[in-house]
Amino acid sequence: MKKRVFSGIRPTGRIHLGNYLGAVQNYVAMQDEFECVYCVVDIHALTTLEDTHLLQENIREQVIDLLAAGLDPSKCTLFVQSHVPEVTELFTLLGMATPLSWLLRVPTFKEKVKQQPQNVNYGLVGYPVLMTADIVLYKAEVVPVGEDQLPHLELAREIVRRFNDIFGETFPEPKGRLTSVPMVVGLDGRDKMSKSLNNHIELAATPEETMKKVMSAVTDPARMRRADPGHPEVCNIYKLHKTFTPSAVDEIAQGCRTASRGCVECKKELGNAINEYLAPLRARRAEIAKDQAYLDRVIKEGAEKARAIAKVTMVEVKRRMGL
Ligand code: ADP
Ligand code: NA
Repeated sequence: MKKRVFSGIRPTGRIHLGNYLGAVQNYVAMQDEFECVYCVVDIHALTTLEDTHLLQENIREQVIDLLAAGLDPSKCTLFVQSHVPEVTELFTLLGMATPLSWLLRVPTFKEKVKQQPQNVNYGLVGYPVLMTADIVLYKAEVVPVGEDQLPHLELAREIVRRFNDIFGETFPEPKGRLTSVPMVVGLDGRDKMSKSLNNHIELAATPEETMKKVMSAVTDPARMRRADPGHPEVCNIYKLHKTFTPSAVDEIAQGCRTASRGCVECKKELGNAINEYLAPLRARRAEIAKDQAYLDRVIKEGAEKARAIAKVTMVEVKRRMGL
């Protein structure tokens, strides 16, 4: 039997290069070797309760992005989290096996408490439990994610171990699977490309939008003038070149260090390389977006397939918990 894979992505906007290079490219690559279950996690998107009027549109946009990226509904299960309500039931039950102290020490939670103390809700502290429920509802063994998600996955493993200790061996301990670019850097010089920092490029952006964003990116801050020698090792544009123009990086580094190459030229080349890389995906995206009936069918059939697995797991969980 093929090992089962699960991963989720929040419909907080369209998929960006960080999501794609860090996680989604593995979703696609794993479809043949594993039994893959991929989920647009709409309930998770509610922890911040912003832009809920955009939620339905964002869900569709993400499904289109995922299909354009290469997910094939005949090979994997692609569905929307809230369409399989068993996950909220499992979330409640797993909560009984999760010490509150584990959740309160999660770094991303502590960060949110500092950032928005007026909006620390119960859902936010429970986020890792819902994420664990997402994964174990399908008894997934492998979880393709970006590096930022590894601490959450470690917590999921702890919750699984505790549940299994109390109620008997029920769930496998899920393991993360990283790509060769597990942390994609941002255009503003920060370590992480992220939608909330607006330092990202959406897969669905136009070539013009993409170029504009790349041209406004931050390079080596110590390089004030064109004639100054640069330091590629601290430049995010250089780091992105490693992914998009791998055969030219030595020449780029050399040109930067000797100031024979300028940042403007370097960014233009990166923008062109990204646009070239994304062109086929963008063409597929435009085709898929035209067929709304196909999208409806994919989303509906995905939920049916996922729910069939979920129901079986819940019968076992309830029996083990004495319900
Ligand atoms: P975001 O962080 O943009 O809100 P999600 O939290 O929904 O997106 O993450 C979806 C997937 O994309 C996760 O597996 C996450 O680890 C991955 N991911 C997000 N940003 C990056 C990044 N900059 N580099 C690598 N992977 C990333
Ligand atoms: Na994330």
